[in-house]
Amino acid sequence: MLSLGLEDATVLVTGGSRGIGSAIVTLLAAMGAKVAYTYRQNHNDQLPGLALQADVTDPAAMDAVSEKVERALGPIYGVVANAGITRDRVFTKLTATDWDDVIDTNLTGLYNTLRPIVPKLYEQKAGSVVCISSISGERGNVGQINYGASKAAAIGFTKSLSREAARYGVRANAVAPGFIETDMLKPIPDAVKERILEDIPFRRFGKPEEIAWAVAFLLSPVASSYVTGTVLRVNGAHHT
Ligand SMILES: NC(=O)c1ccc[n+]([C@@H]2O[C@H](COP(=O)([O-])OP(=O)(O)OC[C@H]3O[C@@H](n4cnc5c(N)ncnc54)[C@H](O)[C@@H]3O)[C@@H](O)[C@H]2O)c1
Repeated sequence: MLSLGLEDATVLVTGGSRGIGSAIVTLLAAMGAKVAYTYRQNHNDQLPGLALQADVTDPAAMDAVSEKVERALGPIYGVVANAGITRDRVFTKLTATDWDDVIDTNLTGLYNTLRPIVPKLYEQKAGSVVCISSISGERGNVGQINYGASKAAAIGFTKSLSREAARYGVRANAVAPGFIETDMLKPIPDAVKERILEDIPFRRFGKPEEIAWAVAFLLSPVASSYVTGTVLRVNGAHHT
């Protein structure tokens, strides 16, 4: 029997209580990983794993998360930086608060998540980091200047990290989902969703589980051991 080699690997998923994050938590737990996940407000008691309330914009909280996970589950092997938000408005209506909220969560949150963990991955000479970017970071999207900028930055972050981390045997990759059926799509009006669907060759939105499998592949020390610094697009052929 073959496996992805994630049995007993300790993996932290940020924003794991719903949507794509909860699909990742569920899949990794089914593969035998020791999963911890953070949530900001609403605890999902249906999920397996260690649930920790923490806001990714709070550096001290994220330091505490890494300590708690290590204490409870052992040294961290994998990190999935998934927490993210949108504050969609066209540029002329975008407020400074919209800008700051998205950059603080999606980009500074990435830094806060990884800052206490990456040095430990280097010390143990093993680890895999997966950052959740977005199709908007690569092809742009109307109303998503703040979000697209944060998700393009996540790719630049990941690629630079992969180069620094390589000498320690640590990998860093990004997943760029297309449009995925989660709460994040709820604010989009139906007429706009119809137009987006016409543009997606698969003629459907993706499912959170379809992102989870891509993440599991990139975490795997077996399946993706020579894959680093890459962006895996999971988008039903909705490319740039
Ligand atoms: N749904 C899509 O179409 C889509 C497409 C591309 C990329 N993404 C990205 O995938 C990731 C997950 O999105 P989703 O669709 O599951 O959305 P979602 O809104 O259902 O879930 C987002 C998660 O992030 C958490 N979160 C938000 N702000 C946080 C904070 N400050 N601290 C801690 N946790 C916080 C939320 O609690 C939630 O668990 C995000 O990074 C998003 O940008 C989503």
